[in-house]
Amino acid sequence: MDIVRRVHSMKETSRQVRAKGRRIGLVPTMGALHEGHLSLIRRMKEMADFVVVSVFVNPSQFGPGEDFEAYPRDLPRDADLCASLAVDVLFAPEEGDLYAEGACTWVEVEGLSSRLEGASRPGHFRGVATIVLKLLNAVQPHVAAFGQKDAQQAILLQRMARDLLLDVEIVVLPIVRGEDGVALSSRNVRLSAEERRAAAAIPRALRAAEAAIETGEREPAKVIEAARAVLEAESLLRVDYVDLVDTETLQPAASMEGERLLSVAVFAGRTRLIDNTVITV
Ligand code: PAJ
Repeated sequence: MDIVRRVHSMKETSRQVRAKGRRIGLVPTMGALHEGHLSLIRRMKEMADFVVVSVFVNPSQFGPGEDFEAYPRDLPRDADLCASLAVDVLFAPEEGDLYAEGACTWVEVEGLSSRLEGASRPGHFRGVATIVLKLLNAVQPHVAAFGQKDAQQAILLQRMARDLLLDVEIVVLPIVRGEDGVALSSRNVRLSAEERRAAAAIPRALRAAEAAIETGEREPAKVIEAARAVLEAESLLRVDYVDLVDTETLQPAASMEGERLLSVAVFAGRTRLIDNTVITV
């Protein structure tokens, strides 16, 4: 496995791979890899001939007071994991290569970026859309994989690819969970044992909402309440939001008809956790 650190060398590698008619798959990450990331990599190995995993903790998607400095970083371990999955290139670019001095161009996916996570984290999705476009330009993949764990991110990036006529297939893959049902996340390493136990209320809350629907509940506010009640019963969690939205527009659901995204964000101590489920009645 090659570790590529410069954008110009990544572009050159991709040019050569493409010239041989091979299909390039990209898995963008911020590192601290876990089984969730690895599931995306395994799927890319099936869908492409040449797999690139990018590791870059992108400063522009962290707000002031968020955990950019404290975000877990362990490139040697990430490299070992990638090598064990026969990844072709680990692309770990330098910050100055991705954000050239004086860079002033940003990608804004209007509307979608201001809801849910965007409402709690202003500017977050501008940073995400911009860095993902830069990574796509550097790697030139035919296909790129994202996780349903960050549902809004996936929806927004699919819209960006469509709106900007990008020549890339965006695939969205299922959430990988721990034995306690908690969605895997790089941030989970920061949970205390008590907080981890409390976090198990998050998947339980999603299941409670689904159970309410199975027993006939059709009022969005009551579905939200079913999830919220489980979260609020857990004293170590602080709810940021519980929202039920249309999966295409991310506007609040007025009814349960059509595909719905139930999305939650909570704090366990200082760690912010998100999870979601897609509901079709
Ligand atoms: P990161 O949080 O490292 O996640 C990288 C990819 O792994 C994302 O597509 C995310 O949805 C997926 N992922 C994370 N946890 C998962 C889980 N438990 N199951 C399945 N997939 C999971 O998301 C980002 O990085 C960044 O915003 C990025 C897209 C790299 C741009 O900086």
